[in-house]
Amino acid sequence: MNSDKAVMDILQNRRSCRSFLEKDIPQDILENILKAGIQSASAGNFQPYSIIKITKDETKNKLVGLSGKQYYLADAPVNLLFCIDLRRLKRTCEIIKAPFTSTKSFLEFWYSLFDTSICAQTIAIAAESYGIRSLYIGNILDYAEEIKELLDISDYVIPCMLLTLGYPKTNGNKQGKLRVKDVVHNEKYRDPTDEELLEAYKYKYGYWKMEPREDRLLKLREVCSGLHGEDFANECIKEIEDKGFINRLQHDFGLFYNPTENLDSSKRLLEFIRNSSCEWFEK
Ligand SMILES: Cc1cc2nc3c(=O)[nH]c(=O)nc-3n(C[C@H](O)[C@H](O)[C@H](O)COP(=O)(O)O)c2cc1C
Repeated sequence: MNSDKAVMDILQNRRSCRSFLEKDIPQDILENILKAGIQSASAGNFQPYSIIKITKDETKNKLVGLSGKQYYLADAPVNLLFCIDLRRLKRTCEIIKAPFTSTKSFLEFWYSLFDTSICAQTIAIAAESYGIRSLYIGNILDYAEEIKELLDISDYVIPCMLLTLGYPKTNGNKQGKLRVKDVVHNEKYRDPTDEELLEAYKYKYGYWKMEPREDRLLKLREVCSGLHGEDFANECIKEIEDKGFINRLQHDFGLFYNPTENLDSSKRLLEFIRNSSCEWFEK
């Protein structure tokens, strides 16, 4: 039971922050946090990522418009844009005459995204150790082309995630999470029973309910029938009528994260990656 209490406290109390104080992060602290991220594990230790540090108000305000109006990012003193960057490695290989195919292999895409994410999360946790909270902002992916232009991003560099960093105004709420037993399988994968799935869902979301207003039902019916057909739309509406409320995943997948828009965003992102000269998804 010898754990470093400080580390466990940080990990177990981490939460996203959407409300920041007007307070700068001292340069030496930011430098230390970035250093901790760059120390992360990386497949082959190639470190195929770049981090664009954004602190200027003008750029932050433009990013608000390129993130679906997530205003809180402009209040935070620092925003870090994490990018997969194979350009550095490709150019270095060209200079020192080493073979290089990472821009053509799907496996390398997978590793690069993994390495970039590990670096980002290490930075988020290192920041927590200084009382600095963070928020990942994925919506910027809808505006990859505009962000590329705004930040002079070159070919073979793909923006992945914005991490907003700052001192929190309030402590915020901890979100419900799954339990260890819901996530961890012992030795072999075991498909849970329907009852176990429902129990895990209830544990995570508690008694979350949304009022079945007419406009919401109309939207849900439209989304469900568009995605899975009339029969499924009827089943979804019947479930709501039987229970008397819209449940959390009906809300998330049917109303909040618009699935039809998400499909369009996916196509645009794939196109953006193709245009950035990476050939990971080519046959
Ligand atoms: C990849 C990724 C993208 C995210 N994008 C957004 C976003 O665009 N806007 C936002 O408010 N939160 C975003 N979040 C934060 C999640 O909503 C948040 O992590 C989740 O609700 C769980 O809450 P917690 O972080 O407080 O545990 C993102 C998180 C991740 C990991």
